[in-house]
Amino acid sequence: MQVIVAPSPEASAADAADAVLAGLARAAGRDPVLGLATGSSPLGLYRELGRAVDAGRADFSRTHGVALDEYVGLPAGHPEGYRQVLLREVCDVIGLAPDRLAVPDGSATDEESLEAAAAAYEARIAGLGGVDVQILGIGANGHLGFNEPGSALTSRTRVKRLSERTRRDNARFFTDADDVPTHCLTQGLGTILQARRLVLVATGDGKADAVAAALEGPLSASVPASVLQWHADTVVCLDEAAAAGLRNRQYYDDSAAGLPAP
Ligand code: F6R
Repeated sequence: MQVIVAPSPEASAADAADAVLAGLARAAGRDPVLGLATGSSPLGLYRELGRAVDAGRADFSRTHGVALDEYVGLPAGHPEGYRQVLLREVCDVIGLAPDRLAVPDGSATDEESLEAAAAAYEARIAGLGGVDVQILGIGANGHLGFNEPGSALTSRTRVKRLSERTRRDNARFFTDADDVPTHCLTQGLGTILQARRLVLVATGDGKADAVAAALEGPLSASVPASVLQWHADTVVCLDEAAAAGLRNRQYYDDSAAGLPAP
């Protein structure tokens, strides 16, 4: 696990963009697959990737985008549905083609259809050859994707109930807090772990406790983001505020400095 702490959210977004581009570069010879998180955390990263495109350092025209999750039961085209969010915040910004964006289909409201949609989504990811780089945020309660505390560490894409904490946190995106859906379809922790590289972005003191528990606490379903410890290529990009609870900070900084000059 690489933990990179930057002096500001903007500098952290630049670190994350470097980690994403390096991970995607390994897909040489085939169309890369980029896993996409929604929410506030990756917005600076997406803008940074957009700048890389403008500067001719990146090109996402052949990249497939794969969403981490989607709400259940929002009407098609709802501006806070994650398909719409990703079209606005990613496709428009980095030049990813809308017809290369895969999002779980959360339009059904019965369990059987949603289970079928989850299975279809797993098949879609497998059909693309798996995810090269999965961008992740972390919930203040330690969730990853919408795998809330208590989620099986080996779980696959499925319907999950959102915790009341998550619904409260996401109420800022809706006119009325009661409009936040109660359920979602989310990649499982086992699905996320199959991505070849994980890049977690977190900024602000509201994430400090969750980040410390995920990176330095025990591997536990109570802190779903602790599965990051299980992956062989995890890059965690933080600002100072989000890193404030880390005990092992000196070691991360020493490691990020690389080998001594010969
Ligand atoms: C988003 C997602 C969530 C968010 C997390 C943090 O697709 O699955 O895990 O990454 O809730 O949200 P923000 O970044 O808004 O604090």
